[in-house]
Amino acid sequence: MKKTYLDNGATSFPKPKEVIASMTNYMSLIGGNVNRGSYKNSFDAENTVYETRELLCKFFNFSKPENVIFTSGITESLNVILKGLFNAGDHIIVSSMEHNAVLRPLNSISKLGVEYTAVPCNSNGELDVAQLKNYMKLNTKALVMTHSSNVCGTLLPFKSIGKFCRDNHLYFIADTAQTAGAIPIDMKDLNIDILCFTGHKSLLGPQGIGGFLISEELSKITRPLLEGGTGSFSEYEYQPSYMPDKFEGGTPNVPGIYGLNAGIKYINSIGINEIQRHEEHLTQLFIDKAMDIPEAEVIGLPSSKGRTAVVSLNFKNYDNGEIAYYLDKDYGISVRCGLHCAPLAHKTLNTFPYGTVRFSFGLFNTTDDINYAIDSIKKVIAKIY
Ligand code: ALA
Repeated sequence: MKKTYLDNGATSFPKPKEVIASMTNYMSLIGGNVNRGSYKNSFDAENTVYETRELLCKFFNFSKPENVIFTSGITESLNVILKGLFNAGDHIIVSSMEHNAVLRPLNSISKLGVEYTAVPCNSNGELDVAQLKNYMKLNTKALVMTHSSNVCGTLLPFKSIGKFCRDNHLYFIADTAQTAGAIPIDMKDLNIDILCFTGHKSLLGPQGIGGFLISEELSKITRPLLEGGTGSFSEYEYQPSYMPDKFEGGTPNVPGIYGLNAGIKYINSIGINEIQRHEEHLTQLFIDKAMDIPEAEVIGLPSSKGRTAVVSLNFKNYDNGEIAYYLDKDYGISVRCGLHCAPLAHKTLNTFPYGTVRFSFGLFNTTDDINYAIDSIKKVIAKIY
């Protein structure tokens, strides 16, 4: 049976062969640690790590490569920022579309006296920026928001959110898990102070690599989550305060950085606008066809406009888990069902607690994949009925 991968919202697959080659090259021919060796291969690896910081700067229009920090993924990045930047008495605004990678750390720091408010989005997952001012308090310090919902793909209006933050002297912290590598993101234009990203979704790298880009001002007042050896100032028993070492204790995921490096170059070789156009086309095709299936309810916006390539369907009077199971078993289609680690988003979309079946498309999907998925959904419905 042919395999059709429609779970790119969870992790992109397949990876470009260039990504695999880059990681294999490091692991088979280069090796060596970074910042710790005075031999050629260690310097080669260091150059690639630094080049990757520069690639990320260019990709997100940011100017300080030393303020590009590598982590194990965006969950770690968000934990560093939420636990390291805020103090008891601070108030943070989030949206009701946030993932548990934001909500769980927030609920943890709220026990230490950090307050937060989740601004309600409508049942399509849209945020009305005009209402943000109603949630401001004297102690509001920042907005932390997902760029796009991992459940329904709805984009939050980052341009006007960034302007609101600038006008009100709030820090703007962006969760780009679903958008980095899928749509253009310009930190300066959007007024983003900290951009958290993961490497294994639309940036096409492997799991285990992610990071954040942090403004100079916030890099000085954010506490690191991990402290340890950096290969620098080894005579001191305290974490160095200079960047990027402040936030990069321990050996970094060098193979992952090699993969990410190749992933970004691959995206650049195609052009992010072209990738966005392709994914929008697939999304529109899928939505149009899904809307013609009476048993399927498209959750969120009715077209590909204003969303990323993530479409959740609710199968009325069916068990969504059973639909996902048969799509895989009988048709080799990989999708993700359930609550997608985003219970608050599902509550907003009125799909809690039964969840949805999520189809998420990537660069390597084709219109044939969409047609096959739609035909297979119809056959599964007929079989279960
Ligand atoms: N957060 C990822 C997803 O939406 C893993 O599937």
